[in-house]
Amino acid sequence: MKIAFAGKGGAGKTSITAWLADHLARRGENVWLVDADTALSLGQACGLDPAALPAPLAEREDIIRQHIGQGYMSLNPDVSGLPDTLSVDAPLGGPALPGVSPGRKRLLVMGTIAGATNGQGGGCACAANALLKAVLAHLILERREWVLVDLEAGVEHLGRGTVADVDALVVVSEPSLRALSTAGEVSRLARGLGLSRQVLALNRCEPDLALPTQLAAQLNLQMDLPERMLRIPALAGLKARQLESGSVLGLPEDDAIGALCDELLERLGSSGTKAPEPCRNMTASVSVALGAP
Ligand SMILES: Nc1ncnc2c1ncn2[C@@H]1O[C@H](COP(=O)(O)OP(=O)(O)OP(=O)(O)O)[C@@H](O)[C@H]1O
Ligand SMILES: [Mg+2]
Repeated sequence: MKIAFAGKGGAGKTSITAWLADHLARRGENVWLVDADTALSLGQACGLDPAALPAPLAEREDIIRQHIGQGYMSLNPDVSGLPDTLSVDAPLGGPALPGVSPGRKRLLVMGTIAGATNGQGGGCACAANALLKAVLAHLILERREWVLVDLEAGVEHLGRGTVADVDALVVVSEPSLRALSTAGEVSRLARGLGLSRQVLALNRCEPDLALPTQLAAQLNLQMDLPERMLRIPALAGLKARQLESGSVLGLPEDDAIGALCDELLERLGSSGTKAPEPCRNMTASVSVALGAP
């Protein structure tokens, strides 16, 4: 299954992406983690040393030139080898399920898709965008492994054809009026792209907190939120951890996080860690690769 994570800045997208990837790998699944954010924090959230992280693909002029070219751009480059060459393996955050041989977690650092540039300035950002989109399309449409895409905060990138072909979207939000209205906007835009399988992950939310949606209705604010919802509590262990490390794995709340990941998968309509869905046809891949920058 291919899942994207979107929402307001600081809502918890990267943490939840890292938790779900680890959960799946410890149950024997192979997972691609795609960092498509300018902040590039997914690697650290997965416990990798920042020094071990590769340069974002959006800044790899050599690779961009090789696959997309200059002047005459190749619109359908062969990028099938790139994920294996450019990814780094991330360590598991805890033990695999008994009797299960753990899956691989591979991190691909893309950089932001909408804002891709080619390095220190100069040249054409279109080429970088075309390559990023082609790699994402390849992972989403042709690979059988799980793919989790940690998107940049906000909504702008959702109109650019980058996530339209994932199977599901997790809209991450805190339970505040402002965060939820961004979440509603993200959800509405994604639905407009045909991405209707969505779950609202309400992060740092007490189990019995009343949502401000009723208040929003009284104020006539439109909040087009996903129907399915998952509440994630504030985690004291993560609060303490972030004082000393960027990793969000191996927390004292590990069991609770595992249970939340199962709930999330169930709400996304995935029957737990079943094999990912089969590949889809290539026509769609071309439409992603050629989407407007
Ligand atoms: N449930 C939680 N309990 C405690 N702390 C949390 C929780 N979820 C996230 N955090 C912390 O909140 C901060 C923001 O989380 P995270 O980086 O996952 O958000 P993000 O949406 O990816 O942010 P950005 O938009 O900057 O990429 C991090 O320091 C993270 O450790
Ligand atoms: Mg993030």
